[in-house]
Amino acid sequence: MRNLYKTALVAVVAVLGFRMAATADAVTATEVTPAVNKAGVFYYSLNDLFVNSLSAQIRSEAQAQELELAEYDAENDLLRQLSQVRNFLTVYRGQALMVNPVDAQNGEAVLRAARKANVPVIFFNRRPSQGALDTYNKAWYVGSNPELSGLYQAQILTDYLENNINWDKNGNGKLDYLLIKGERNHADTQGRSAAFREGMRAAGYELNALDVAYADFSYARAVRYLQNYLAGHDIGEIEAVVCNNDAMALGIIDELQHRGYNEGDGSRYIPVVGIDATEKALNAVKDGSMVGTVYNNAPAVARTVVRLTSLLTRGEEVNVKSLGMPVSGRQVMVPYVKVTLANVGSLRR
Ligand code: GAL
Repeated sequence: MRNLYKTALVAVVAVLGFRMAATADAVTATEVTPAVNKAGVFYYSLNDLFVNSLSAQIRSEAQAQELELAEYDAENDLLRQLSQVRNFLTVYRGQALMVNPVDAQNGEAVLRAARKANVPVIFFNRRPSQGALDTYNKAWYVGSNPELSGLYQAQILTDYLENNINWDKNGNGKLDYLLIKGERNHADTQGRSAAFREGMRAAGYELNALDVAYADFSYARAVRYLQNYLAGHDIGEIEAVVCNNDAMALGIIDELQHRGYNEGDGSRYIPVVGIDATEKALNAVKDGSMVGTVYNNAPAVARTVVRLTSLLTRGEEVNVKSLGMPVSGRQVMVPYVKVTLANVGSLRR
């Protein structure tokens, strides 16, 4: 009996407490304090150099746009990301998710959780499949068009070849090159590689891939890859190295330099191209050890992701005017910029 009484009392206090809080909230909301916007941001891995720099931009953008963040790093573990998302949805009911999915191919598990909780989910940097995005009308994507960056790599390389007519070291009429790819199921890996090949063919170059390897966008893996490759092959046969991102391109360049290449002697030079325009890559373009890269505009992606989240959180309309970027079918593509020695000094970031 005593316990029952105690339980009832607790319940009454809880209800009263809730009412009081609700009244107080209603008063402050209309009279003084604006409602706090909160969102969860989930990174696939902060070990990834580009994603790490993106996270810093997102943090400062969120501060500027007064969006409070709860940040999570899945360390490339899909199950960890799912439990982070579920925990967030339990603690912060109804708040939006900004997701850089571990599962780069479709992000379906996160999509399902978001759909169940009926909250907006803004994917970025790793594009879920169109089919998956189409299953939920509160799912969005902010990224860049991978095909464009692959095409820019082809243009950078063809410009280089035209200015260096002795590029065909073995005279077979083909460009003997290494293709270093990112993660296997990543839209950027597939789109960049295919568009690079297509761009070279369209410019009239015949390609001969000496080898194609996955190095998961990682500097260390690219270094290890080239060490292994050169254990069985002659460095003098390589006429170019094309990498799906800068971290891998820098790994390749470091290993080449270790072997006396790409250090200023024109007879010991292999053109290497990357994508992202990280600080280190820009320095490599400046000192000539990298022939070019493509600017993956992290500040613009961050600004767009945060602005989109704020608009959706406030239930406002998303259009080119409110977002500051063209929107098509709940997708926003931030443009890339080609970077070579010609414009590296004037690149605005
Ligand atoms: C790409 C970027 C890579 C890597 C990847 C991770 O856009 O170029 O460096 O960060 O995203 O999803």
